[in-house]
Amino acid sequence: MYTLINGSPKPKGSNSLYFLKNISSKLNKYKIYELKKNKYEEILKSINESDTIIFSFPLYVDSPTSIVLSFLDYIIDRKIKLDDKLIYIVINCGFREGKQNITAINIMKRWCEKVNAIYNGSIMIGAGEIIGKEKYKFISRKALKKLRYFTNAIKLKEKSADVIVTMDLLNNKLYCYMANLSWNKKGKLNNLSESDLKLK
Ligand SMILES: Cc1cc2nc3c(=O)[nH]c(=O)nc-3n(C[C@H](O)[C@H](O)[C@H](O)COP(=O)(O)O)c2cc1C
Repeated sequence: MYTLINGSPKPKGSNSLYFLKNISSKLNKYKIYELKKNKYEEILKSINESDTIIFSFPLYVDSPTSIVLSFLDYIIDRKIKLDDKLIYIVINCGFREGKQNITAINIMKRWCEKVNAIYNGSIMIGAGEIIGKEKYKFISRKALKKLRYFTNAIKLKEKSADVIVTMDLLNNKLYCYMANLSWNKKGKLNNLSESDLKLK
């Protein structure tokens, strides 16, 4: 059995959840959880019944999100050991380059050592706001192919390399242009003009 944990605090439209759903569509027996403080014990029960755990979360300030860090601490503080559990990580970030996620993955690797779990690989996705949206599937093919390979390793419970996904169809200029369009749209919804969004 697989326990899938979404560590994004977004109440809707979470890219991390999109990736988990994509992976779970290829798995047989699994449960997906939204990581919340009042669910820790329920999630731990599911982890106990599983041999494989998949964490999916966004990069926040070069690190896993605070709810993920809090859950990792919760397990360490209670001296819970996850002997022989296989851990896979799906991390996505706003920057175009997947390598931005390396520091956060190193944090997860260190945690796996501490709790005796087996770190079995990660996929580090750049441009998560694009790759994690169904509507941009047409420019995310290469990334989704890498996610399929990663899912295959999970299915076979094999060790995966740390896969880095970078949005190389867009250069930085084009990527920033797209991001700005989206920020301006969001600003408008909140009665903010383009100049309101600029640093003064
Ligand atoms: C508070 C905060 C901090 C962030 N820090 C980073 C960061 O350090 N580097 C980065 O590339 N993206 C950063 N992002 C962007 C998110 O990682 C990105 O939008 C991600 O796709 C969100 O995934 P989600 O929909 O699963 O929450 C940050 C976003 C927020 C809200």
